[in-house]
Parts: sequence; structure tokens; C-alpha cells
Amino acid sequence: MPLATARVSTDRPARYLKQLVSHMSHKATTALSADGRGTITVRSGSCALTPHPGTLELTATAVDAESLAQVQDVIARHLVRFATQEELVVEWSAPIDGGELEPTAPVVGEYLLSHHTPADEILGELAAATREALGDAAHMQVSADEGTLLTMLTRLTGARFAVEVGVFTGYSTLCIARGLADGGRVLACDVSEEWAAIGRPYWERAGVADRIDLHIAPALETLRALDSEPFIDIAFIDADKESYPAYYEEIVRRLRPGGLVVLDNVFLGGRVLDPAYQEARHVAVRGLNDLIAADERVDAVMLPVRDGVTIARRR
Ligand SMILES: C[S@@+](CC[C@H](N)C(=O)[O-])C[C@H]1O[C@@H](n2cnc3c(N)ncnc32)[C@H](O)[C@@H]1O
Repeated sequence: MPLATARVSTDRPARYLKQLVSHMSHKATTALSADGRGTITVRSGSCALTPHPGTLELTATAVDAESLAQVQDVIARHLVRFATQEELVVEWSAPIDGGELEPTAPVVGEYLLSHHTPADEILGELAAATREALGDAAHMQVSADEGTLLTMLTRLTGARFAVEVGVFTGYSTLCIARGLADGGRVLACDVSEEWAAIGRPYWERAGVADRIDLHIAPALETLRALDSEPFIDIAFIDADKESYPAYYEEIVRRLRPGGLVVLDNVFLGGRVLDPAYQEARHVAVRGLNDLIAADERVDAVMLPVRDGVTIARRR
């Protein structure tokens, strides 16, 4: 559970932040962002610092509780020492488990879900059929608001060639297919013929089945076999998380300028924020999130839509 936060009351949040980052830069890795936020990474973990009016917000992260306590201690001690003109009180929250975080409060999530162009009858019935056939596994399906987002992004790019990695029962496939320009096609990659078969009647009913080329094989093989020219207009990645970095690389090099790659589940239920989570999928998505933010080939933004959606646009 190695996350902890503190909200430190002070009239000089930005000043202390800069002072702390500058001082710590001699013995730690530090960064100061253009919008005034700071990060300090010591051996035991990291602390993000954000100035707000009247408050300096601290978020400490580490791989385990002992390391977290060390990060908290080193940051708090230095901060208190710098504040010669006031007595700062650094009160850390109890350790928080990243897996218990949600990008938006549940009540906000509900509001968002009821304020997008709603899914039509066909999508609604596909969602219901998936729940009926597969029970709990139905949670793998994108939500209705994310589906609307996918159709919108596909339309906005004027896409003629789309790629989807992770079809499941074809909800997102249908959303992408509907957004395609006339004559457009989506290459839909999955390893399960059985799951995709649940979606096929709904693709037919929606009149888009002829736009969907379902490819049943490990997606990496399918992607690697594609022409290496930049011809993809939009791609959606929503399959095995360990392979996200490899999918991203294969796709981004084939995106035409202005083309988009959209990635689902970039928060992994909050676990990307918590270094205690070190399974292959956590490490892969956490690393990829960092890579995309610094990737000079794209402009990227991470949206708190459901479990986190990144949109990266090829420069
Ligand atoms: C989260 S689901 C996709 C949900 C889908 N986008 C939707 O909205 O219904 C993940 C899918 O990835 C597929 N998958 C897992 N490993 C794969 C691989 N190596 N290659 C292709 N597909 C894979 C699974 O079979 C599963 O259908």
C-alpha cells in the first residue's frame, strides 16, 4: 500500500517547493515542471509536490511500507527545516493502496455515464448478450461512454484504415466500424473466435460487418506482418496488458501523420500509481505511460475516462 499524501498549510507553497527541489537535487533525482509541480526521487521512492493556494500537496510513493516511511521522513524533515518563518506541520495520510483508487469519484463516473450520446439499441443488446453469455467477464467490454469516444475519434480522423487489438465480443469494434469513412476497414485482432462470434450478429445488424476484417491470431504476429508504411489512421489497444509496449511500437511506426493510437486501461485500476504493484502488466503499462509522455513522435493526453484512456497523435 505504498502511497501516502499530505496537505501542508502554508502561505508559500511554491517557494518551499522550489527550495526543496533545488536542495534535494544534489543527492536525488529531481524535476520541476513548467506548471510549477516538482518531483523528488530518492533511493527509497518518490515524492510529487504540487502547490495550491495556501497548501503544498505531497504524494509519496514507494515499493513497500518501510521505504514509504523513509520517503515521508526525508521530505517532511527538509520541508520543516526550510520553513524558518513558520512552523509547518506535515501530517501524512495512512498508507493507501493504489488498487483502491478510482480516477474519478464513483458519483462523477455515474454522471459522466449518463451524459454522453447514449449507445443505441444494437450496442445495448450486444452488451446485454455479452453479460448473459459470459457473466463477470463482460467487464472487459468498453463502457458506453468510451464507445462513443471511439466512434467520435474515428470520425474525427476521417479514418479509412483502423486497427483494433482486443475485440472480445466486438463492442468497441462496432463503435470503430461505425465511425469509418466510406469504404473504410478495421482490422480487428483477437485470439478468441468464440468471443468474437457473439458480436458478429450485431455487426451484421448495424450494417458494418463488411467493414470488419477479423484476424484470429496473436495480435503481435498480425501487426508485425503489416506493411511498414505509415498508413494506419486510428488504432485502439485493449488486449493483454503485458504486450502494450510492443503493440504501441508496432502501431506508432505505422501511423500516418495525424493518426491516433488510443490505449485503454492505462490506470490499471490505480495500480500504475502504486509502485508496490510489480507484476508484468503493471510494469509494462507504467513504463509505457512514461514512454508515451516523453515520446517525441506523438502528442499525447491521458483522459480519466473509466480506467484511463490515452490518446496519442502522430506528429
Ligand atoms: C479487454 S478485452 C477487449 C474488449 C473489447 N475492446 C470490447 O470493448 O469488448 C481483451 C481481449 O484481448 C484479447 N487478447 C488477449 N491476448 C491477446 C493476444 N495476444 N492477441 C490478440 N488478442 C488478445 C482477449 O482474447 C480479449 O478478447
